[in-house]
Amino acid sequence: MIILGIESSCDETSIAILERKADHFLVRSHFVASQVKTHAKFGGVVPEVAARMHLEVIIPGLDAALHEAKITLEDIDVIAVTAGPGLMSALMVGVEVGRTLAWTLKKPLVGVNHLAGHLYANWLPDAEGNTPSILKAPFPALGLLVSGGHTELVLMRGYGKFQLLGETRDDAAGEAFDKVAKLMGLGYPGGPVLSTLASTGNPKAYSWPRPMLKSANLEFSFAGLKTAVRYHLEKHHPKKKDLPDIAASFEQAVVDVLIGKTLRALQEHKVNTLLLAGGVAANGRLRAELSAAVARRFPAVTFLKPNLPYCTDNAAMIAAAGYFQAKQKKYTDWKLLKADPNWSLSKTT
Ligand code: KG4
Ligand code: ZN
Repeated sequence: MIILGIESSCDETSIAILERKADHFLVRSHFVASQVKTHAKFGGVVPEVAARMHLEVIIPGLDAALHEAKITLEDIDVIAVTAGPGLMSALMVGVEVGRTLAWTLKKPLVGVNHLAGHLYANWLPDAEGNTPSILKAPFPALGLLVSGGHTELVLMRGYGKFQLLGETRDDAAGEAFDKVAKLMGLGYPGGPVLSTLASTGNPKAYSWPRPMLKSANLEFSFAGLKTAVRYHLEKHHPKKKDLPDIAASFEQAVVDVLIGKTLRALQEHKVNTLLLAGGVAANGRLRAELSAAVARRFPAVTFLKPNLPYCTDNAAMIAAAGYFQAKQKKYTDWKLLKADPNWSLSKTT
């Protein structure tokens, strides 16, 4: 089966051609056009600008992806498009391209939840091109979904069966990274830059708060941590040489909370697999420390993390999610598919 994936929920326009082989995926092509340089001038994503840029690049992107995969539109079996959550004007571009292709080509269409897509990034090949064997029987699985817009712990009992266990009460983890990076004058999006800076700093230099780490639930909060860093910056006007320590101490606080809550969830729910997902899944400290903590405390649980190119927004993960939906015949008539900016993962089937 060949699946066309389309992603335009925020500031990346992405098209992927994914092929399902006997028991694994082959990424035949993967086109990503990032708009970050444009939005950086505004210090964040401007929805109207994002939509216009998606419009300009999405058809050339489709053309390039087909060319690289050496296929034509006729070879596609299923069209999978992100229908939410995300920015309405941005989502509409991908959704309309998906609907138009489904109508003109008479091909089945699936509307994919962007967050489900992030979780399914774990089914894509790793850096060596391999697919972990646990993916033959991964469920029940726990997902730690950490992106720019969401921080959620999700229980997955099967394909398309998502139960929200806990989420952030204020800022998402990626949002906290971006806001603190902005306060430190590191630009937008700040997560990757802050993380690079943190790699040369001392994570114990400042003892920032670990919000809600000790509370007996699976909820998160990052606003207080961000405010603590802001007060520190305003009070001490740190020099450039102090920034790595500030970055490392902040990153460590976020990672400690994410790990603490994930271990709590693993204690409460017996699972086979832990799936890390979302843009913050690219964070080196989180990947390494979560892996070590799970191996130590829950050796029977297999920890999976997406290959780096599939952590941040991409259409390959949308195509993977689309494959599992198509297998369950969860298609949407092109006349009925609508972008839903607030589509919750727990309302996904
Ligand atoms: O999943 P994603 O691409 O978009 C959303 O669906 O939100 O996530 C983007 C977020 C941004 O907040 C970005 O700063 C963060 O992921 N991010 C990182 C790293 N790479 C991306 N945060 C921390 N460390 C990183 N290495
Ligand atoms: Zn995302």
